[in-house]
Amino acid sequence: MPLVFRFTIYFPMKSLRLRSLPHLLLALVLTFASVQQAAAQDAATVKKEGVTPDATAAATPATVAAPAAGGGDAAAIAAGDALFKGNCAQCHAVNEQVVGPALGGITKRRPLSWIIPWIKNSSKVVAGGDDYAVALYNKFNKQQMPSFALSDKEITSIVAYITSEEGKPSAATAGGPTAGSVGATDGTAAAGADGAGSGKYMDILLIVLVVVLIVLVVTLIIIGNLMKDVLRGRKDLDGRDIEILDQRFDWGKFYRSPMLRGIVGTVFALVLLYEGVQSVMAVGLTQGYQPTQPIAFSHKLHAGEHQINCAYCHTSVYKAKSANIPSANICMNCHAQIKTESPEIKKIYRAIERKQPIQWVRIHNLPDLAYFNHSQHTQVAGLQCQTCHGPIQNMEVVYQYSALTMGWCINCHREMPLNTKDNKYYDNLVKLHDTKNAGAPFTVSSNGGTECSKCHY
Ligand code: HEC
Ligand code: HEC
Ligand code: HEC
Ligand code: HEC
Ligand code: HEC
Ligand code: HEC
Repeated sequence: MPLVFRFTIYFPMKSLRLRSLPHLLLALVLTFASVQQAAAQDAATVKKEGVTPDATAAATPATVAAPAAGGGDAAAIAAGDALFKGNCAQCHAVNEQVVGPALGGITKRRPLSWIIPWIKNSSKVVAGGDDYAVALYNKFNKQQMPSFALSDKEITSIVAYITSEEGKPSAATAGGPTAGSVGATDGTAAAGADGAGSGKYMDILLIVLVVVLIVLVVTLIIIGNLMKDVLRGRKDLDGRDIEILDQRFDWGKFYRSPMLRGIVGTVFALVLLYEGVQSVMAVGLTQGYQPTQPIAFSHKLHAGEHQINCAYCHTSVYKAKSANIPSANICMNCHAQIKTESPEIKKIYRAIERKQPIQWVRIHNLPDLAYFNHSQHTQVAGLQCQTCHGPIQNMEVVYQYSALTMGWCINCHREMPLNTKDNKYYDNLVKLHDTKNAGAPFTVSSNGGTECSKCHY
């Protein structure tokens, strides 16, 4: 066996040669890319939850202590975060007393079997004579914490969220109730700051990793060259050994290699395809768009639980082309009395004081070239709002349910029969249609509803 080959077995010579430089570089780039990807993903989840990675880890034991939570995973914490911000943040912060006590360490003070009934109905617990509850109630000047119709699971997720936030500077929660003007929510700003913080942390980690990798590559090259020199000094090398030893990395060959071309070609094609699909998808397609609104107005609460008619607020939806967004005065019909102390409601008062409209973010928006008329669809055709807008009465925050593309309009016009009942305008047309093509449904399109000029100016 030639010497170099033997050498290769004991020392992985091949991997130490200069030849392996491109491989190492490739590995480096790939590692870098995957770490960056992971970092981006981490940052995204962190941003969503407002929790840094170590805090998520710290939260896990807490939910082991509270098995009813159904797993102390990030999802439960995220759900708890949302529930906390929606229900509790006006009076509580985790690490700071606001209206009610700081909730950090609550699992150490009280068992879950106490916390759950407390949140569901605290006055019942106080009335029941629970010593701790009565003392706390008196300490907080007999202020009544409201009752919450939350499920056990929802409460455990709030507790999981609280535990995950324990001991952290409480910018997000503390700012919640007081700061924040119409047009910007504190929650989003705080979450953004949080994301930025953890992004920095990942950056440092990345830099350290890259430095370590570079040091590794350089060391390997040096060792490789050293060993080559040692081998060159020996006299007992045969022809093949010398050939291997003197082998230089042939860049020309490398560039011309079909493998490299194949890889580069494939990557290029994939990128092109991805970009292409993205740009095609982007044409007017905003389905699922769900911006954060300046006030945490909930259709689920108003249109769902309290069954307020859509047209009570969207007054013009049966009469006009567009459905209006209600002015603050309509809110005041009720909120002059209801929930006057809520920070969200105070935003309405502030808007009125400043004589500025509430800056709702528009969700549905057809391009100017298309004509759409609400009254034609709601009043004349008798369509339900939900046909196009989805289950609005269940939406905490409204999102765009339908695609709102031209194809979406046309598909319905092709299939939907006209609502001709009790509509004198259609009487003659129906007769005409029935004599010409009896049996065929009298759809919107058979009445010209797919003509370009009907929808395009
Ligand atoms: C309107 C203000 C208000 C809201 C909203 C509120 N709380 Fe409270 N909470 C209080 C007050 C005040 C106390 C102190 C006890 C008392 O006075 O009844 C308290 C006490 C508590 C305690 C006991 C704390 C301890 O140190 O033992 C827990 C747990 C708690 N609240 C959880 C919640 C959760 C979870 C929510 C949201 C689902 C919530 N609270 C919403 C005002 C509020
Ligand atoms: C108490 C008043 C109120 C009631 C009742 C109400 N809405 Fe709204 N609606 C609003 C406000 C305020 C907005 C703007 C903020 C938002 O998007 O949440 C809005 C927004 C919307 C939007 C999105 C508008 C856009 O920006 O594109 C749709 C769609 C909508 N409502 C449909 C409905 C339907 C359907 C119902 C009945 C099931 C209903 N609303 C009941 C007040 C109301
Ligand atoms: C027909 C009566 C009515 C109208 C109009 C109305 N609301 Fe409400 N709103 C309610 C009721 C009832 C509640 C639930 C109060 C409760 O939970 O005790 C509520 C709760 C809320 C809450 C939650 C407050 C909190 O802190 O829990 C917000 C925010 C809110 N409304 C915003 C609005 C806005 C913005 C408008 C105008 C676009 C509006 N409301 C119009 C009846 C109304
Ligand atoms: C046939 C489908 C369809 C039906 C039915 C429908 N909408 Fe819409 N809605 C739309 C479209 C499309 C838009 C976007 C209009 C635009 O951008 O010009 C829209 C927009 C809105 C907006 C935003 C303001 C505006 O006019 O642009 C509100 C609010 C709204 N709809 C409420 C309602 C309510 C309430 C009902 C039921 C009474 C309803 N819609 C029924 C398709 C529909
Ligand atoms: C869920 C079904 C449905 C969807 C979706 C829908 N429409 Fe319609 N549309 C109807 C019906 C039904 C009528 C017939 C109303 C009548 O009797 O005049 C109609 C009528 C019309 C008319 C009047 C046609 C005529 O012959 O005078 C126009 C314009 C129109 N729609 C535009 C649109 C546009 C633009 C969109 C998409 C943004 C759309 N529609 C989406 C069901 C729909
Ligand atoms: C039922 C209503 C309707 C009819 C009929 C209709 N369109 Fe459209 N069209 C729309 C809507 C709504 C959009 C906007 C879709 C979007 O934003 O994705 C649109 C978009 C378009 C666009 C794309 C514009 C752009 O921004 O890319 C073109 C081109 C177009 N329509 C041409 C036509 C032609 C040609 C006809 C007749 C054969 C026609 N449309 C019939 C509703 C209609």
